[in-house]
Amino acid sequence: MTLLDNLSAIVGDAFAAADLDRALGAVKPADRPDLAQFQSNGALAAAKAAKENPRAIAEKIIEKLLGHEAFDRLTVAGPGFININLTKDYLKAGLGAISNDADVGAWRASDPEKIVIDYGGPNVAKPLHVGHLRAAIIGESLKRIFRAAGNEVIGDVHLGDWGLQMGQLISEMALRSPALAYFDANNKGPFPKEPPISIADLEEMYPAASAACKADEARAGLARKATKELQAGRPGYRALWRHFVDLSVDAMRVDYDDLGVEFDLWKGEADADAYIPELTDDLRNRGILEHSDGAEIIRVARDDDKKELPPIIFLNSEGAVGYHATDVATIVDRQRNIAPDRMLYVVDARQRLHFEQVFRAVEKAGYFEEARLEHLWFGTMNGKDGKPFKTREGGTLKLRDFINMVTERAIDRLRENGFADGYSSEETSKVAQLVGIAALKFADLSNPRTSDYIFDLDRFMAFEGKTGPYLLYASVRIKSVLDKAAAAGLKPAGDFVLEESEETDLALALLAFGDAHKSAIEKRMPHILCDHAYRLAQSFSKFYAACPIVSAPEVRLQTARLALAKLTGAQLKIVLDLLGLEAPERM
Ligand code: ARG
Repeated sequence: MTLLDNLSAIVGDAFAAADLDRALGAVKPADRPDLAQFQSNGALAAAKAAKENPRAIAEKIIEKLLGHEAFDRLTVAGPGFININLTKDYLKAGLGAISNDADVGAWRASDPEKIVIDYGGPNVAKPLHVGHLRAAIIGESLKRIFRAAGNEVIGDVHLGDWGLQMGQLISEMALRSPALAYFDANNKGPFPKEPPISIADLEEMYPAASAACKADEARAGLARKATKELQAGRPGYRALWRHFVDLSVDAMRVDYDDLGVEFDLWKGEADADAYIPELTDDLRNRGILEHSDGAEIIRVARDDDKKELPPIIFLNSEGAVGYHATDVATIVDRQRNIAPDRMLYVVDARQRLHFEQVFRAVEKAGYFEEARLEHLWFGTMNGKDGKPFKTREGGTLKLRDFINMVTERAIDRLRENGFADGYSSEETSKVAQLVGIAALKFADLSNPRTSDYIFDLDRFMAFEGKTGPYLLYASVRIKSVLDKAAAAGLKPAGDFVLEESEETDLALALLAFGDAHKSAIEKRMPHILCDHAYRLAQSFSKFYAACPIVSAPEVRLQTARLALAKLTGAQLKIVLDLLGLEAPERM
């Protein structure tokens, strides 16, 4: 149970004892922290329903709560709010509990689930670009956040490895090097283990092939034919396709590694293909597929729809599968092999219609409950012109170049701030990469996931304010405070002391972690944990300014403050990890 859950239960009991709805006892942080720590607004709602005076009801509730060990001061405020302050003993007991917890107060789900999270979506032969950044950053964070609550979470990159672009590449390769063994229709293999081209060739070939297909209908026909033959299993094409996928995956892994993004599964759209014949039969037999203009479709519109929802095309007029069908079949694949309780998709807002259609089709087919499929869409990272972020020349920026740019800027910033002085160039680069990635990730995560935001590297990279670098710095600083205390021979005490207001504020911040974690999960919104990390770092900074540790006047204060600092360091590390941020050893 979180702090707010505990307090709400206690106040809820008092409402119940007054013959009122227990739910009215909900407690939340005070709107005016200068007046109280927490508040409960239930008396207002109760009064409205009973046509009574809210202040009188609030008085009645307070009377029932008097003498409870948790409450130090309870007052009626304004039209009938109950203002709440907690006793030091209650706060100290809370601190004791989280210091015995390996996760330092993280929330634990009472009913953990098995969850697949689909959050990569890169396409084979196309280098990762900034458009892939948000899915990776938000998805990785959500994966960690859900996992920390005790859920079993499986992250899948879900490669785009099966569409028309594969046929474009194969046909391009056939035009360029027709003598290769892959293009001999009678050759059943085995084919060479080494790929016939490099990743650089592949990345050059992709835009050339797609431009050629756009410009020339006959050329496009070759691509469609190759796609169909690939999907039908032509051995040379499959072998070539495997090379393309492997080359791309090797390159993608490097970029995702640098971002600190890690997938459990490297499956793709192609893995769903094996299910298509069986699903087609099944859907046909049950009358779920309908013929329409030569294609096979599934209608997903419902009577009460406010906007029109077009059907999905399961098989196109050439009998090939597209993006809708692979997503349907992937859900079946996951259901059979993983049997998750839930599937989460961290994909751009521009695909909302797509997922709505897919989820409805799956529900209609009875393959998976729509309510357990969630599209956790996100807004766009824009440039300063308010349009989707581009390079100065107007192109899409490769993720690799982007990471390099951010790391270089971080090196400048470290120098300007006199950090990393005297470090080897190796350590400086390592620290710079952590700082740069933290700047990027924190800026991305600290907005509500569904908002657009403007990319502003200078702002993201500042060491003051609500930024990734500030939080890394705070974490490193706590560590050095702890090291200093250890060098002075101090050991953290078992008993906390909360005499200064800064100590109490830090205790309240530490105890708020469970609620922040729970709320981030319930809303599927990592920014709530960004807020928590910032609050924690700021509370620590005020605490440390007001409450010296090594130079405190009494040993009792020294060791108790050290315990509070240690707890803060441990919790901040966990929260940063949930956001995908890693602090350097020193900076
Ligand atoms: N490859 C897709 C694209 O580039 C994104 C895939 C997202 N995940 C999914 N299950 N559809 O648009």
